[in-house]
Amino acid sequence: MNSYLFDKLPDGRDVIAYEIGNDTVRATILNYGGIIQKLLYKGIDIIGGYDKVEGYLVSDGYQGALIGRYANRIRDAKFTLNGVEYQLAANESARNNHLHGGMVGYDKKIWDVAPKTDCDGEHLVLTLVDPDGNENYPGTVNVKVTYSVCGENFSIHYEAVSDKDTPFNMTNHAYLNMNGIAGGTIYDQTLQVNADFMSSVDDKLIPVAKVPVDGTPFDFRTPKLLSEELMHCDDEQMKKGEGLDHNLYITTKEATLWQGKKLAKAAVFAGKLGALTLYTDTPCVQFYAGNFMDGDYPFKGGLNREKNGALCLETQFAPDGPNRGEAILRAGEKYDYTALFRFE
Ligand code: GAL
Repeated sequence: MNSYLFDKLPDGRDVIAYEIGNDTVRATILNYGGIIQKLLYKGIDIIGGYDKVEGYLVSDGYQGALIGRYANRIRDAKFTLNGVEYQLAANESARNNHLHGGMVGYDKKIWDVAPKTDCDGEHLVLTLVDPDGNENYPGTVNVKVTYSVCGENFSIHYEAVSDKDTPFNMTNHAYLNMNGIAGGTIYDQTLQVNADFMSSVDDKLIPVAKVPVDGTPFDFRTPKLLSEELMHCDDEQMKKGEGLDHNLYITTKEATLWQGKKLAKAAVFAGKLGALTLYTDTPCVQFYAGNFMDGDYPFKGGLNREKNGALCLETQFAPDGPNRGEAILRAGEKYDYTALFRFE
């Protein structure tokens, strides 16, 4: 366990980096946005990000960050809950959507961080109080996120309690590349997903229906190459997302036990470095292949931040949940979900 001053925010606040892990898996986490700044597998960094805080401030990609209070999109930036309509920031202005928690989401907050070591491994406990009315959401939410590295496992445990009913849906927006982040696009890497259904989306990337993946390019039930041809084919849904940027519903009984919970085997993402298996207890995962990266804002070490240069596997509830009466955290109830990335 090690910590050091990573950089300073423009207003002078310190951005501290914390390192946890072992010889096989090592993570560097920032108190700013709870960002996973580095994720080393056998010494090779597999995550997109920056050497200086400025990169995170100017790029719009949510690199490695914690996302909340509501990850993904909310249509027309509004929802009605308990008879009250709430207007949120339409920070994805081109589509008039609320995206990833609004103007100042959890990715832009300074979190309190407490390191912890036990016989299982090394952990960081991040906490944040998200006040009532912040970003116009109802209720004060006490949020706790635990990052753990134990053997070949890297996990993120999300917990929260609100004093009023509120939409709540957290994820992490890590850009992963299983050739190593310096290893070019993901076109030679494979993805397998235990999902029988997906959300088909409209032009605003808002789900319109839950449909079977059968016969579509989204049938990843057997491993598929994430080739350029697959992601830029003529399929209407692929065209809408400019490639893979879709929500899949995890449907499998294959599971593992982790920190006392049963997590479903959601996906396997594999490249030259090996396979990364994702286990989770959220109902869905958004797969986003970095379609909107276009060579701007180079990553650490001057690496090209190119289109399809990484894959995000965002465990979550389906997008726009509050407008279907889903993903509501009731006052006093506990939000408790985990994403486990296992290197195999
Ligand atoms: C993803 C989302 C993409 C894009 C990205 C941020 O979660 O699915 O459409 O908005 O975040 O650049």
